Amino acid sequence: MIVDDILRTPGAVRDAERWTAHNYHPLPVVISSAEGAWLTDVDGRRYLDCLAGYSALNFGHRHPRLIAAAHAQLDRLTLTSRAFIHDQFADFCRELAELCGKDLVLPMNTGAEAVETGIKVARKWGYQVKGVPAGQANIVVAEGNFHGRTTTIVSFSTDEDARADFGPYTPGFTVVPYGDLDALTAAIDENTVAVLLEPIQGEQGVVVPPEGYLPGVRQVCTERNVLFIADEIQSGLGRTGATFACDHEGVVPDMYLLGKALGGGIVPVSAVAANSDVLGVLKPGQHGSTFGGNPLACAVAIEVVRLLATGEFQRRSAELGERLRAGLEGLLGKGLVAVRVRGLWAGLDIDPALMSGREACERLAERGVLAKDTHGSTIRLAPPLVITEEEIDLAVAQLAEVLAG
Ligand SMILES: Cc1ncc(COP(=O)(O)O)c(C=O)c1O
Repeated sequence: MIVDDILRTPGAVRDAERWTAHNYHPLPVVISSAEGAWLTDVDGRRYLDCLAGYSALNFGHRHPRLIAAAHAQLDRLTLTSRAFIHDQFADFCRELAELCGKDLVLPMNTGAEAVETGIKVARKWGYQVKGVPAGQANIVVAEGNFHGRTTTIVSFSTDEDARADFGPYTPGFTVVPYGDLDALTAAIDENTVAVLLEPIQGEQGVVVPPEGYLPGVRQVCTERNVLFIADEIQSGLGRTGATFACDHEGVVPDMYLLGKALGGGIVPVSAVAANSDVLGVLKPGQHGSTFGGNPLACAVAIEVVRLLATGEFQRRSAELGERLRAGLEGLLGKGLVAVRVRGLWAGLDIDPALMSGREACERLAERGVLAKDTHGSTIRLAPPLVITEEEIDLAVAQLAEVLAG
């Protein structure tokens, strides 16, 4: 029998709370090692990871090829800054550009930096190419968006938790309802330089826009000479059963914003991919990052791109996603009131009369499955793409038990 006071978890949870700002509300589990889709805590308990670092671990924990690439690079060269060129840089940019079908890549570190880069590039493009009067550029964004945490990005958030008391806010953004093409079209004026959207809204609860919306956005952007920026930081790189969520509707944006899984769950790596008529507006000294495109990041990300280039992970995500969908749809009316699934990415709305998303995640954790709530009664499932059929069945079975009370 395990005696509570010899468990290491409670003390480790207390210490973590004591020594950090409380900008997160983590589940009370303390992880010490992981492999593939499984995590082990400081007391030796094992958990199936159904969050995958918010999609930063699409290839699972410590994928052997990614770990080998990181080790090899650690033994040779870790950082140069962009003041010099290193020998991993060109391969990374070329291979990622090819995966995206674009001419150029600009590497950064975090997702928020990729979004900031996209905004800066779009504004400069607006002034220098489109001919927007100085200081007048605007960007159309969607309600319910999540693009990161910088002061500019939270300026156009519609989530009060993310936004309140962080002003004064950056001007130049128009917010329209997500999925409403007429509203988006009406918001575009002669000074609009870009439309910035998540092709599926992850933090909002895996919200898939109506069919035809993304092609419609593509068309109106082309007609009005506006850049379509797709934030695929969470939805991209295999998560939805395709390389990009935009692929499901045959849509090619002008700019892809990538992050999370690009770093293989090892290092933060983000990037903007676009053609030279867009990214070419940046000249030396106008944008940068000390760690952006560093050798370790590039070495890992090259291997990530190679894993994706075969299409194997995308296929796996599409096929296993159907099993996940079937399992979750079987719980509709049995505690779930709505289910949205694209590949191995699911948003589940729990009957609020039953329990909150937080409560459901705590109970799932007690049963050895880790997931995270978002907005009230919604849970997001985003298991690593290396998860097996049996493990999906296990996760669904545990969820069924939790919902059954
Ligand atoms: C769609 C999207 N964009 C941007 C970000 C910000 O990424 P980061 O936390 O790496 O800054 C996130 C993070 O969840 C995201 O989901």
